[in-house]
Amino acid sequence: MPESPASKPDSRPETRRVLVCQYQSCLRNGSAAVLAAFEAQPVAGVTIEACSCQGQCNTGPTVRVTPDEIWYCRVKPTDVPLIVEEHLKGGKPVEALFNPRIHARYYY
Ligand code: FES
Repeated sequence: MPESPASKPDSRPETRRVLVCQYQSCLRNGSAAVLAAFEAQPVAGVTIEACSCQGQCNTGPTVRVTPDEIWYCRVKPTDVPLIVEEHLKGGKPVEALFNPRIHARYYY
C-alpha cells in the first residue's frame, strides 16, 4: 500500500533566515542600515527579514540566523559582507561577531 503524502517526512531543507531586529534599541544603533546591507546582497536560499526585539537590546543591532541559531551582536553595515561571504555562502559563522551572551563557550 502506498504511503500517504501526509505520513512522509518533509525532506526539503529548511530555508535559512537572517532576522535583523528593527525594534527601538537596535534601530537607534543603526539596524535599518544593517537590514538594507543584507537586502543589497541577496543569497540564494536565504531570506532576509526584519524582526521585532530579540531580547538582546544592549548588544544591538542584533542579527539572528536560523536554523543555525547563530546570534550576531553590534552588527554594522560594514560587517555584512563578511557575514554574507563566510557564513551565508561559505557555511562558516563569523565567530568574532558572535553575541557572547548566547555563544558564551567561545569566550572562556
Ligand atoms: S531592540 Fe533589538 S534585540 Fe531588543
